[in-house]
Amino acid sequence: MDFPEKSILLKDGRTCVLRPAAPDDAEAMIAFMKATAGETHFLLRYPDEVTMTAEQEAAFLENMLNDPGAVMIAAVVDGRIAGNASFSGTARKRKIRHRCDMAIALYKEFHRLGIGTALVGYLTELARQIGYEQMDLEVYADNAPGQALYKKCGFIETGRRHNAVKLDDGTFRDYILMYKPL
Ligand SMILES: CC(C)(COP(=O)(O)OP(=O)(O)OC[C@H]1O[C@@H](n2cnc3c(N)ncnc32)[C@H](O)[C@@H]1OP(=O)(O)O)[C@@H](O)C(=O)NCCC(=O)NCCS
Repeated sequence: MDFPEKSILLKDGRTCVLRPAAPDDAEAMIAFMKATAGETHFLLRYPDEVTMTAEQEAAFLENMLNDPGAVMIAAVVDGRIAGNASFSGTARKRKIRHRCDMAIALYKEFHRLGIGTALVGYLTELARQIGYEQMDLEVYADNAPGQALYKKCGFIETGRRHNAVKLDDGTFRDYILMYKPL
């Protein structure tokens, strides 16, 4: 869905623009996904699993823009994509269409500047406007920064998914399940 651009002041004095991600961002988004997948194990993909073409990514971003129940925010600093955050409906079925799922990631060099807080704040504001009643997420049990961000933004821990992830080194990680009433 389309939505108004927002500017925020970062802790280092720079400005960050939160705007809808667009098909023109496809190549930058792929580079971002590859790089961040290598910077942390807290994301779902390994870098070699970022295999979409620029055309496929552009089509995905176009769909997000046209979907009235989904949002993809690009966070832009000095003209460069610093990160993104998104939500989409859990499903269209009537019994669960009151819920949406969210995701967020930033390049490491843009951590701790307040972008995560601003992105989650804008995501929840837009989800509420659309009419969702609850936002859900899953976060690695060892992702302390992620959990701290979500708690700061009003998310509540509600459960745990055992051995949700198996890393290439053979070790497992649980997911912590969190939700925020909108
Ligand atoms: C999680 C993530 C989005 C946080 O974004 P961010 O812009 O750094 O967060 P903010 O600067 O807005 O900080 C928000 C709060 O989170 C907490 N926090 C963030 N990073 C932290 C860290 N390294 N250690 C401890 N707390 C941290 C703090 O409570 C902070 O509030 P404060 O600045 O008032 O102290 C970022 O670390 C990231 O992209 N990580 C890699 C991808 C990822 O884990 N995504 C989530 C998958 S579920």
